[in-house]
Amino acid sequence: MKTYNIAAIPADGIGVEVIAAGIEVLDVLAEKNGSFSFKFDHFDWGSDYYKKHGVMMPADGRDQIRNHDAIFFGAVGAPDVPDHITLWGLRLAICQPFDQYANVRPTRILPGITSPLRHVSGPELDWVIVRENSEGEYAGVGGRVHQGHPNEVATDVSMMTRSGVDRIIRFAFKLAQSRPRKLLTVVTKSNAQRHAMVMWDEIAAEVAADFPDVTWDKMLVDAMTMRMTMKPQTLDTIVATNLHADILSDLAAALAGSLGIAPTANLNPERTYPSMFEPIHGSAFDITGKGIANPIATFWTACQMLEHLGEKPAADRLMRAVERVTADPSLHTPDLGGNATTRQVTDAVIAAINGDNE
Ligand code: NAI
Ligand code: MG
Repeated sequence: MKTYNIAAIPADGIGVEVIAAGIEVLDVLAEKNGSFSFKFDHFDWGSDYYKKHGVMMPADGRDQIRNHDAIFFGAVGAPDVPDHITLWGLRLAICQPFDQYANVRPTRILPGITSPLRHVSGPELDWVIVRENSEGEYAGVGGRVHQGHPNEVATDVSMMTRSGVDRIIRFAFKLAQSRPRKLLTVVTKSNAQRHAMVMWDEIAAEVAADFPDVTWDKMLVDAMTMRMTMKPQTLDTIVATNLHADILSDLAAALAGSLGIAPTANLNPERTYPSMFEPIHGSAFDITGKGIANPIATFWTACQMLEHLGEKPAADRLMRAVERVTADPSLHTPDLGGNATTRQVTDAVIAAINGDNE
């Protein structure tokens, strides 16, 4: 029997609650499936670790997880630690050195969930956003001098490379090609950002030539927010830079009903390093410890992890279970307008897995 070694890093806030729920569900799923199992190694890295040790993870942290089959990540962020420390110290400290350059964010309206968009009931909104996850606006290039003085200067330089843009655009075309509509929208801002974004557009046009069966178009990021809201049915696969996709995917999550549902995969497609799977949401201080965090985003990212591991039937089984549960409003957590708890949703998904006989 195959055993997958998973590095579990729940980190902060509700990350701890949803990852615990995710592990429980994955173990039940493996047992139901019968052909594989999981071995979870737990790492207590995060803001509490930082308060004790002055770092978010140990110096050899990446070495401890680099041979795992995947990383199952909660969320970072604490009210009393600056966000740039928690983010750069853990999440980006894993994503960037492990070259998880393709950030994949599926968005659709699950059964039973109401979109804030008046005319959208489900099939009109079925997207995958591909976010460039290794460079661009979050390359970390820049600096700050004369701090606190009137002549203080600060820069964040968006850095794009031909190889970095080529690989993400190519990844997006391939993904679009694998989906029934074979439709890709390349998000840009080449009217105002006249260097890197112009190169981005040029590379998109070059790569498109290798995918003649994919229909593609280009959209300025500001206009994209309108199109997502007004004409969601005209979109399918979307590729955008690190910053643009960061923002657009929060909008996508909201349009699909709640941030508590939205999953993401940080992929190293070449598999040189492990990939990382996480809910999009943060540590949610406002609901931490209340037992009401929506675990659906984590279950959905667990499906992405299963697919990445090559366990597509198990991924499908988990997604069916999730959809059976979201279809029942009495099992909605408060972010979806209900009053179910994390425990109740988790139990219901486990029951649905066990009752699934497809
Ligand atoms: P957040 O995603 O933690 O919360 C935003 C709002 O959505 C809150 O009202 C929260 O209660 C709600 N929410 C989020 N996930 C939910 C879930 N699963 N179930 C029910 N409700 C949910 O974003 P916020 O408040 O801006 O940031 C809090 C902390 O998280 C900050 O320190 C931030 O830097 C960090 N953060 C970390 C991320 C990561 O680790 N990938 C991503 C986003 C934020
Ligand atoms: Mg974000």
